[in-house]
Amino acid sequence: MNLKKINKIKQKSLEELDNIKNLNSLKEFKIKYLGRKSELTQILRSIKDLPKEKKAEFGKAANLTRISIEKKFDNVKEKIEFEEITKESEELDVTAPGTLNKIGHIHPITQMRWETEEIFQKMGFEIIEPYELDDDYHNFESLNMPKDHPARDIWDTFWTEDGYIPITQTSSMQNRIFRSIKPPIRAIVIGKTFRNERTNPSHEHTLYQCEGVYVDKGISLSHMIGTLKTFFDVFFNKNISLKVIPGYFPFVEPGNGIYLSCFICNMKGCRVCKYTGWLEIMGCGMIHPNVLKEGGIDPDVYSGFAWGFGLDRLVMLKYGIEDIRHFHSGDLRFIKQF
Ligand code: PHE
Repeated sequence: MNLKKINKIKQKSLEELDNIKNLNSLKEFKIKYLGRKSELTQILRSIKDLPKEKKAEFGKAANLTRISIEKKFDNVKEKIEFEEITKESEELDVTAPGTLNKIGHIHPITQMRWETEEIFQKMGFEIIEPYELDDDYHNFESLNMPKDHPARDIWDTFWTEDGYIPITQTSSMQNRIFRSIKPPIRAIVIGKTFRNERTNPSHEHTLYQCEGVYVDKGISLSHMIGTLKTFFDVFFNKNISLKVIPGYFPFVEPGNGIYLSCFICNMKGCRVCKYTGWLEIMGCGMIHPNVLKEGGIDPDVYSGFAWGFGLDRLVMLKYGIEDIRHFHSGDLRFIKQF
């Protein structure tokens, strides 16, 4: 077995899918590439017998190949079914019993949200939903930001007339997580956040964030870097380098910013990475002792890290989308591409 063979299967099958025009050929395709006797299934079965060093490498390659084939297969199937239904409706029999047609589409951000959740779940994280409207205590105060703290200005906050906040960050769930889960804590929070900002190609008033927290005894920055690198490698299906720089958020100490090696130009420099070879992606750091204490966790015994990244930005990078405003535009010409 070698990686070239797996790649060849991937390339050949994806190409073949492009040329499939009816459900029968699609059925044959499924047997040939995904069926019990297919080459890929045989490879997947034989991975358990490989030596340990090879297992991870081949397992990852073969599984990712299977996922790509299945994804494209589903898309093609949906397209063919849709075309057949439209053809049929040209000779419409109004007396025929109704059928439940699968038309419509999962939004690209939702697709990526599911993918993100799956990757972190496999690493042992549980998934928590944020409140969309929350109070000052959870969005700011419990995160080491008393009422007059100047860092509150980092977030352009909307307020309701009765003093609630459409959350500016999914960090708003940190305190509840610390109070409700006993360490070891591994949790992610994915949800909509809101900013009072003028919109432009890279800024939106509503964006999706993915927050993560990890608390246990003896946790250090190296655990954080390892966790995030694993996530990005799988998400982008590439070996990504991380650049960790100092950054400031009141709820982490030390606080960090993370850059990813630009996989669009392979670090040669392009428009997206502003010719630096690096993409700025997120804030993170070791959870501030005051935040742990406020969550009922003893910082002398436990330590942990937290991060927050924008899911929209990740999706834009993955697909080379140039304007964040497409996501909420409801424009079907955009949505149908995914
Ligand atoms: N909540 C921060 C933001 O909205 C991101 C962050 C999360 C930073 C957790 C550090 C730790 O920008």
